[in-house]
Amino acid sequence: MFGFESSDIGIDLGTCNTLIYIRAKGIVINEPSVVAVERGTRKVIAVGEKAKEMYLKTPGNIQAIRPLRDGVIADLESTEKMIRYFVTTILPRYRFIKPRMVIGIPSCITEVEKRAVEESAYKAGARDVRVIEESLAAAIGADIPIFEPAGHMICDIGGGTTEISVISLGGMVVTNAIRLGGDEFDDAIIKHVRSVHNLIIGEQTAERLKIEIGNASPDKTIEKVEIKGTDAITGLPRRLEIDSVEVREALKDPLTLIIDEIKATLGQTPPELAADIVERGIVMTGGGSLLKGLPKLISKETGVPVILADHPLDCVALGAGKYFEYSKGLDSSRSIYDSLNS
Ligand SMILES: Nc1ncnc2c1ncn2[C@@H]1O[C@H](COP(=O)(O)OP(=O)(O)OP(=O)(O)O)[C@@H](O)[C@H]1O
Ligand SMILES: [Mg+2]
Repeated sequence: MFGFESSDIGIDLGTCNTLIYIRAKGIVINEPSVVAVERGTRKVIAVGEKAKEMYLKTPGNIQAIRPLRDGVIADLESTEKMIRYFVTTILPRYRFIKPRMVIGIPSCITEVEKRAVEESAYKAGARDVRVIEESLAAAIGADIPIFEPAGHMICDIGGGTTEISVISLGGMVVTNAIRLGGDEFDDAIIKHVRSVHNLIIGEQTAERLKIEIGNASPDKTIEKVEIKGTDAITGLPRRLEIDSVEVREALKDPLTLIIDEIKATLGQTPPELAADIVERGIVMTGGGSLLKGLPKLISKETGVPVILADHPLDCVALGAGKYFEYSKGLDSSRSIYDSLNS
């Protein structure tokens, strides 16, 4: 049905969303990284979108888990079950040829966690597994010519992590990862609304505010939205109108941390490569980079142009899926030099 090579599968194992890309098919899975299990027996009841609906609204006997929250594998068993579930749903087509899998994960996860992810992929039916940094996958997915002898900076802002890397000649020259991303933006909004308005709101409301009216850069038009929550003093439900200026104020701290990390990474970059980055710009990927006005703010703060990738949410899965093809180029150029040096 497919050629041998098209059995490569790229997986973006994100803290918010898991995506699976197959070369011959495109993105075949795009679901929230959530697993719902029965309390006590820990039997899996739902995975992905269905499990997310249960998240935050679970009845007593069901527990919905985000196994990768905050960029760490908080729950190894559920991570394993989730990978196996997603891979199994697409596996019937691989009954005869076991696929190769490349999995993009945040570079801040530990060696033990990395091995556990590899193990789960083998158990799910892979014949070969590579686990790579998500910013390397993002760079390939964003079509950055990573094999050029020139510096390229990629900044992936996900749900739980932000990873900033400088890549040249196919290798990572500098990589910095922090456990902070779009989820932290939501938390900052929740805290702000509570402390300024005495109103308790949920994660979904905060995310809606961020996506609908959040803007990291000042704008002429001020947008407003009405939200509902629980009054922290009376305990009664209440409405509140909130505007984009206030949301920006709430996001100031996490945004500053991300910008500081980008500046630090630029500071650690060898000067020749930094000069290339100034010329070519910083490429942004990940759902967090979709926050309105964020590329503009980063550009203003660093003095470097910023480009938002074409499909910021898909880049890691796409790049992971194309990794074997790319690494072939890298391996063959290496073997030429190896033979020259032997
Ligand atoms: N239009 C948007 N504006 C602002 N934020 C957005 C938008 N769309 C998605 N997000 C945010 O992007 C984040 C999810 O991004 P993404 O799917 O890239 O994360 P992930 O890959 O699962 O996480 P990580 O890379 O940290 O493991 C969420 O916090 C979500 O709220
Ligand atoms: Mg990601």
